Amino acid sequence: MKRRDFTRVCTSIVIAASSKNTELLAQTSRVNYQRSLLQLGGSGNLHADQLTVGIPYLFFYPYVTTPCLLINTGRNLKASDTSDWKGGTGPNNSIVAYSAICSHKMSHPAKEISFINYRHDPVSFYSKKEGKSVEKSGVISCCSERSVYDPSQGAKVLGGPAPHPLAAIELEFDTSSGQIYATGSYGTDMYEPFFEKFGFRASMEHKVSNPKALAKEKIPVHELTSYTRQTIKC
Ligand code: FES
Repeated sequence: MKRRDFTRVCTSIVIAASSKNTELLAQTSRVNYQRSLLQLGGSGNLHADQLTVGIPYLFFYPYVTTPCLLINTGRNLKASDTSDWKGGTGPNNSIVAYSAICSHKMSHPAKEISFINYRHDPVSFYSKKEGKSVEKSGVISCCSERSVYDPSQGAKVLGGPAPHPLAAIELEFDTSSGQIYATGSYGTDMYEPFFEKFGFRASMEHKVSNPKALAKEKIPVHELTSYTRQTIKC
């Protein structure tokens, strides 16, 4: 599939951040990318019931260098009434996936270290909404500057400096085989700013000449902790 074949519906463009000389653009859009079958460790096909509740998994989509978190939250997650988020998928609607590029300064899982992580155990943070410190389990936490997202509500920002939710990865669940496909991305994504800032390092890490190469038809899924040497918790 060539990039121009994608169905991209851009609803707005926002300024996300700025570097020394370049304005970085995050795009709010819905894009149908390659339909990619998720495979456990890159070998056998992944079945939804193989995803352990509370364990963060990692895969790279929609590009070969852009990381995503795959999470079985253990909760039946309905679509949002207040946003475009489509809810969970899988046999119990408990599985979600999000781009793992923090919307603040794009901290993301790399081989050496990850400051962004899914926390099934309780995490303390300052809630903007409640105006006080709270404890909540089942959140995506970025320890770079302590942004916290709620994966059960479209990765809505619960705390910290993140300006907008993580982009959601569209998943398709095949009820007959139990397999899962990634099919697209929606919400405000950070892909272009990521390539601009981290493209060279990401292409070294993934041993690819083009960091913007699209994910293939079959892509491996790993536990986050087996991909990243050190995961930071805060
Ligand atoms: S990069 Fe995630 S909170 Fe700053």
